[in-house]
Amino acid sequence: MNKTIEKIVSLCKQRGFVYQSSDIYGGFGAVYDYGPLGVELKNNIANYWWKEMTRNHENIVGLDSGILMHPKIWEASGHIGEFHDPLVDCKQCKSRYRADELTENLENEEWDKFKCPKCGTTGKMTPPRQFNLMFKTEVGALEDSGSTAYLRPETAQGIYVNYKLVQGSTRMKIPFGIAQIGKAFRNEIIARNFIFRTREFEQMEMQYFTKPGDDDKAMEEWKEKRIKFYTNILGVASENLRFHKHEKNELAHYAKEAWDIEYNFPFGWSEVEGIHNRTDFDLKNHENHSGKNLKYFDQENNERYLPYIIETSAGLNRMLLTVLADSYWEDTENSRIVMKLDPKIAPIKAVVCPLVKKDGLPEKARLIVDTLKPHFNVLYDQQGSIGKRYYRQDEAGTPYGVTIDHQTMDDGTVTIRYRDTQKQDRASLENVLNIIQSSLL
Ligand code: GAP
Repeated sequence: MNKTIEKIVSLCKQRGFVYQSSDIYGGFGAVYDYGPLGVELKNNIANYWWKEMTRNHENIVGLDSGILMHPKIWEASGHIGEFHDPLVDCKQCKSRYRADELTENLENEEWDKFKCPKCGTTGKMTPPRQFNLMFKTEVGALEDSGSTAYLRPETAQGIYVNYKLVQGSTRMKIPFGIAQIGKAFRNEIIARNFIFRTREFEQMEMQYFTKPGDDDKAMEEWKEKRIKFYTNILGVASENLRFHKHEKNELAHYAKEAWDIEYNFPFGWSEVEGIHNRTDFDLKNHENHSGKNLKYFDQENNERYLPYIIETSAGLNRMLLTVLADSYWEDTENSRIVMKLDPKIAPIKAVVCPLVKKDGLPEKARLIVDTLKPHFNVLYDQQGSIGKRYYRQDEAGTPYGVTIDHQTMDDGTVTIRYRDTQKQDRASLENVLNIIQSSLL
């Protein structure tokens, strides 16, 4: 099977997972909208992440901080000074590139002798210019520098600047974590590969506050926990996942050690999530810039210190692309496309179909929908042949089909159809409910 990103993009549009932004105006670069199936899938992934972090860990709590924050935060964090990409332009064909993606030898590259990969012209490339990735905006009525604010490029800083308040209100002892899901914005120079790299996206970040010296151990623990989330919860095939350790020259300005969880996308192995040892870099800088004491007081040992932070930072949209890419399957034998989404995250858990549109079957099917829908998301469908209805739902990733026929009217049993195998069983409604519910645990 030739699994290409184009095929996934096309299915996403047709079925209502993901649309390009502002479609009727010709699109808007590197922003995407999530359709009826996409928003369900995205919410399901986010809910499982939230549950895994907060409900499964007594020492992790949640937070929801603002997208707009005091501009000094971005000075302290280093994002104003350091958060940029080197940019080069071809003066001939006007193509723009991230210089570090064109050469491994950024420092010593002779740009005036460089050949443009697009038009092939040599000697027309500009030297690299630093381009800050943060979106600026004006707050209030006056457009002076005093009112400049930034759209956050990561959710992490909202956690750092609130950490003392959270610790104060919860009385948590180190080690503890704070989790947050929210939008982040980066003015990416080159946005490509569909929802992989966009200018507006969502992050799911957890900052784990440890005692300096315990950070390496915490790093190992979180690496293991995070990769398991992909296989055990999202159902991603383990052979399509790997760790990549950042070399010194790849490390972000805040990191002592960093590992990426990479997925084998149709366009190659690429990062989905980063696990970073940020040391006390951020808290130290916020102490300096705010003048506030951000040290943690360890009552038992009567000592004060700045905690070290292990961060797990995932892109929700990239995670969604990961599960879409991993579940896309062309079942050539049966001429159908199937999204083999894990039932836990599938947007619709079951489609309920009356076999025919008469003899009281639609009414019976509606009653069954009413029985199932308090438990999970179901869809009623009576349009077209039963085969077509099933195939439509295979593309939507719906794991179960429940069909109501004349026998249902006699004995109450229904047919349950399994998406991946297309196997069908006769079962009571109670059994169907049990089968579906147990696949969601
Ligand atoms: N707080 C640390 C941080 O933001 P990062 O490696 O820059 O680290 C973390 O980003 C994750 O956020 C990435 O692994 C990716 O999943 C997601 N992400 C970053 N930039 C993105 C973009 N332009 N579009 C979509 N997702 C992005």
